[in-house]
Amino acid sequence: MTWRRLLLLGSASTLFLFLVFTLTPIVSPLPRYTGPHEVGVLDVETEVERRRIWDARIKETGEPAFDLNTLAITLYYPSIPRPKTPGTKQPLARPWLPQPISLIGTGYARMLGIHWPPAQSLLTGILWLLGSSTVIPGIVDAPLIPASDAILVDPEKAAIVEPSEPLLKDADESKEDMERLEVRRNPSGTDKLPVVVFSHGMAGMSQSYSHYLGSIASHGYVVAAVEHRDGSGPGTIEHYANGTSKSVWHLQLQDLEADPPMTLSTLKTAQLSFREAEILETINFFSLLNSNTDQQKIKNLKPDSPEKTLPTFSSRLDLSQITIIGHSYGATGALQALRRASKSKPQASKNNINLPTDATITGGISLDPGKASGPLNTHIPCPLLVLQSGEWTNKAPSTDFYGLGPHWRVVRDLVANVPSKKGWFMTIPGTAHPSVTDAPLIVPWIMKMVTGTTLDAKTALEEYVDVSVRFLEYLRSGRKEGVLASEVTSEKGPLGKEGERGVVDGEAGGKWEVHVVPEE
Ligand SMILES: *[C@@H]1O[C@H](CO)[C@@H](O)[C@H](O)[C@H]1NC(C)=O
Repeated sequence: MTWRRLLLLGSASTLFLFLVFTLTPIVSPLPRYTGPHEVGVLDVETEVERRRIWDARIKETGEPAFDLNTLAITLYYPSIPRPKTPGTKQPLARPWLPQPISLIGTGYARMLGIHWPPAQSLLTGILWLLGSSTVIPGIVDAPLIPASDAILVDPEKAAIVEPSEPLLKDADESKEDMERLEVRRNPSGTDKLPVVVFSHGMAGMSQSYSHYLGSIASHGYVVAAVEHRDGSGPGTIEHYANGTSKSVWHLQLQDLEADPPMTLSTLKTAQLSFREAEILETINFFSLLNSNTDQQKIKNLKPDSPEKTLPTFSSRLDLSQITIIGHSYGATGALQALRRASKSKPQASKNNINLPTDATITGGISLDPGKASGPLNTHIPCPLLVLQSGEWTNKAPSTDFYGLGPHWRVVRDLVANVPSKKGWFMTIPGTAHPSVTDAPLIVPWIMKMVTGTTLDAKTALEEYVDVSVRFLEYLRSGRKEGVLASEVTSEKGPLGKEGERGVVDGEAGGKWEVHVVPEE
């Protein structure tokens, strides 16, 4: 009887899964970025001044665990399609999964405590099945959008018309087309583009947020997503100038030895210091990239990653407009790095990395600030936007956060009390913690089932992008537009009564609960 039942159940579920996998396209391509510009994508790894961020060793290998050796970032930036040169093939997009896929498969297996190679290969196989067909839209190593240039947009098709040079002369020749096409100029109105540094979450990677970051870039920002080597990701490879390389795996407390032994709390302190150092090194990298003379010192150590376009960035970056964004663990890391927004010198510590004199951090965006990544830094001398997913705001709202009270209230007080009094705190209902990552776009059906979101994944991401770009515009112009212009609609959030939680319409079809807005 039981065997029959089991057999029945087994074949029923096999059939069911077969149906689901064949009838539902479980893997979707990433959508177009939301802004008017084409996007260039480039992986860069460079040498940085070596620093020991924390004195601890990896038990397995005896090697130091928290040495900063190189900086790895993925750049997303506004671009124009490159003029076609006959005979050469343009690399049009890059794989979404970092190569080799086995590194990431093994990394996730290790995180799950699986050290048996065949099981690790199985995970690699699943990743390959789900992720190998996905590419990051954008042109690898495309030139930065020219300062004085314009692009032609076909509003009917919502497509950018590929310019064959010279762009506008060409359009003049085809008057008929010109009536249909719109000219869009560099939206910043200057030849300098503001920059953004992004910090990923626990178990994340620099490319896990390509749609959110590429979309910000498509609105005219140069974005660098850091690939953290703090032992929080599944796995990453450091490449050195002498041609050798080293794998960095996910680290847990039991993997480390130190004197005195590390605790969960010191592990977080070490990782957050590591992240802060990498964020500051990214700003240093931008400063080098911006300088005509220093730029020649940059050597891209990432194998098979070109560096031809790097010279197009010189003198094009507005280092007086730097915003730091992070998600989850990275949101906590971003909040920590934001203490450097102050012009006054930070307290001396052995790992203090000086910001270049021409660099100013002018704002921060914190997406679902960590609930288990240590207390949040409250010294934030610049405007701040905190966006939380519905899940982050609503799950266990009364649980104590490091002895400071409920997480939601700690965040609300932090935002309400930024010294500039320019803080926003909002929640987007119907979303979950991973909603700002690429995952719900690539495997929408699986993510919906696992996270129980009610807001469509694409709409949610568009809302995240819209509000973030409105904030980036606010930092430069002081104008509050879109959802940023709203009053408070939900003062007590999950701590108040259900009827008191008002929402305001977003610009892409979602709704926002607004908890804190600036005091004028
Ligand atoms: C290459 O450089 C790395 C980092 O500087 C160093 O750890 C390694 O020993 C070097 N390897 C060789 C073969 O020189």
